[in-house]
Amino acid sequence: MQRRPRRNRKSESVRNLVEETSLSVKDLIFPLFLIEGSNKKVEVNSMPGIFRYSQDLMLREIESCMKLGITAFDVFPAYPESLKDSIASESYNPETFYLKTLREIKKQFPEVCLMSDVAMDPYSSDGHDGLVKSGKILNDETLEILGKMSLSQADAGVDILGPSDMMDGRVGYIRSLLDENGFTETSIMSYTAKYASAFYGPFRDALDSAPKFGDKKTYQMNPANSQEALIEAELDFEEGADFLMVKPALSYLDIIKLLSDNFPLPIAAYNVSGEYSMVKAAAAHGWLDSERAMLEILLSIKRSGAKIILSYFAKEFALLK
Ligand code: PBG
Repeated sequence: MQRRPRRNRKSESVRNLVEETSLSVKDLIFPLFLIEGSNKKVEVNSMPGIFRYSQDLMLREIESCMKLGITAFDVFPAYPESLKDSIASESYNPETFYLKTLREIKKQFPEVCLMSDVAMDPYSSDGHDGLVKSGKILNDETLEILGKMSLSQADAGVDILGPSDMMDGRVGYIRSLLDENGFTETSIMSYTAKYASAFYGPFRDALDSAPKFGDKKTYQMNPANSQEALIEAELDFEEGADFLMVKPALSYLDIIKLLSDNFPLPIAAYNVSGEYSMVKAAAAHGWLDSERAMLEILLSIKRSGAKIILSYFAKEFALLK
């Protein structure tokens, strides 16, 4: 045998030399769930180890994560049903607890990279990402609401807006509006290829944001398709997105690779709630090793071409170092 691939695996030091992909805590964005009130920390039933925090405890959590080297956070609010309506008006109420918390985070920790979601679902009495009329999701009318939401979040100091709604034209619409209002430095990480996925289940538990009727298939992508991801990416690129995101990650590693091969923008992947919960559920039964599974998952997402990973494992990963 002239060629023995095992020679490059013979010791840890040799394996280290030939290792192509590495993970850093700097690649990670940690999603956090916010609830109204104070002194509250409530575990999400379907996501062991992940909590919904009130502002005061979230600030402490961010501080402890920063000590571990995490520098980027994506905050999602859980709104009570009483504050939801059909036009998501709470999302751009300047006095709403979510915007106040974003402001406070940037005030206390100006160095963090703060990201927020742009979509109607946490504030919508219909539980959809867009405006509902007669059972349909209206595209262009939704853009106006997303625009108001984006300006409010930019004004609160958010560094990266994450439109996760999948309406057509929203990246360009939001970019123009931000620029017209002086927010030229606010970035957009577009949820470019966001699939209609079963893996968002635990997240919708965390936010009580499941759709009240139907599903999200008229706006989120069909898991059977990859060509559409190229169209979405082309549009987001032209409309001024700073990052392209693929979501979920694990069942869509081919899409991550496709976008990273074809677009020069940094690619992000969302290692979503269901992907986290699957590992935790199996680990709770002693069926697999949570830590090793986490490392393999994060590595595979990076290997496939993602530069940035949004993951509920972020803190657990950071604690290993
Ligand atoms: C809302 C949104 C969702 C997620 C991020 N933003 C859920 C959905 O589209 O229904 C999912 C994140 C996760 O599952 O971790 N637009």
